[in-house]
Amino acid sequence: MTPRPLRLVQVGAGAMGRAWLRTITESPDVELVALVDLNASAATQAAADHGISGIVITDSLEDAIRRTAPEAVVDVTVPVAHSEVNITAMRAGLPVLCEKPIAPTVADARQQARVARETGRLLMTSQSRRYYRALARFREQIRALGPVGAVSTRFFKAPHFGGFREEMRHVLLVDMAIHAFDAVRYLTGRDPVAVVCRESNPPWSWFAHGANAVAVFEFADGSTYTYDGSWCAPGDETSWNGDWFVSGEHGTARWDGAGDPVLTGPPEPAHVAGSEREEIAGALEDFVDAVRTGRTPDTEVHANIVSLAMVEAAVLSAEEGRRVLLAEVLER
Ligand SMILES: NC(=O)c1ccc[n+]([C@@H]2O[C@H](COP(=O)([O-])OP(=O)(O)OC[C@H]3O[C@@H](n4cnc5c(N)ncnc54)[C@H](O)[C@@H]3O)[C@@H](O)[C@H]2O)c1
Repeated sequence: MTPRPLRLVQVGAGAMGRAWLRTITESPDVELVALVDLNASAATQAAADHGISGIVITDSLEDAIRRTAPEAVVDVTVPVAHSEVNITAMRAGLPVLCEKPIAPTVADARQQARVARETGRLLMTSQSRRYYRALARFREQIRALGPVGAVSTRFFKAPHFGGFREEMRHVLLVDMAIHAFDAVRYLTGRDPVAVVCRESNPPWSWFAHGANAVAVFEFADGSTYTYDGSWCAPGDETSWNGDWFVSGEHGTARWDGAGDPVLTGPPEPAHVAGSEREEIAGALEDFVDAVRTGRTPDTEVHANIVSLAMVEAAVLSAEEGRRVLLAEVLER
């Protein structure tokens, strides 16, 4: 028997909020009952643009919860607002699926994790770039390589976003690199222990700070993950997932972030069937399944904090010009 759709409140109706409205209305697993934004008229407009009617639209999450008795919250607000929204939802007894990054700092994320523990509610980050069929295949290939010695990602794009990204510090590390940092944990099943990072901003940069970064992470066994990226790189651009290369004892695996990954050396491993849903639709499916079954998803807040710690440790290394242990930022 198909379970009835989970009743959802979405908070945040900005650029990414609109992508979520599309995904939520297309999903048979969920039903949108309320849309919340500090700017209620923007929420009204976003709902109308997606042909959504008959839901509660308000500027207050508490008000939406009181009026609609939802079963879960999707948080698509800006990172500095995530903590307030997520804690309000969890204290009201609701599980939360929150856009990445779960918080601007590890300390803020740890506070949210504490409330998740106290209330027993699920708090999951939507790391949408984990949900690609090709990435799942790439992980199977990496397992066939035996012990892994080195992993690298090249990320070279030239987007003109306008807005907050062009003003902020550490833009590439904080706003983008978390996707690759999180993916390397998913791909290898391991967490790094230390990082050395350098940032720069090329003379032609249209970003205020840190459009380029190169970070070398170490794992406990001495193997490495190298991230080399730029957001000011017109020319032969990589995909949005970046260009990946993995070297192991028995061969190599390579993924351009768009097509099929290529294994050289060992025989192709048997294919394990997975979900067909990708990006935020994949994250939503994973969340609904976790709420229904009580399973802990891979991007539950406690585990996801390590991806955030990779960003914070890389930023600290770039600022202070030294090797930084992840334990140092996790314990701060
Ligand atoms: N997964 C991806 O690929 C991807 C891509 C883009 C953005 N994002 C993430 O999505 C989130 C939202 O980004 P965006 O580009 O939509 O930002 P945005 O600024 O366009 O929209 C954010 C919206 O949240 C509202 N808001 C802020 N604080 C609020 C609060 N306390 N209560 C209710 N509403 C509040 C704002 O009024 C605004 O409408 C960010 O965390 C961002 O990093 C993820």
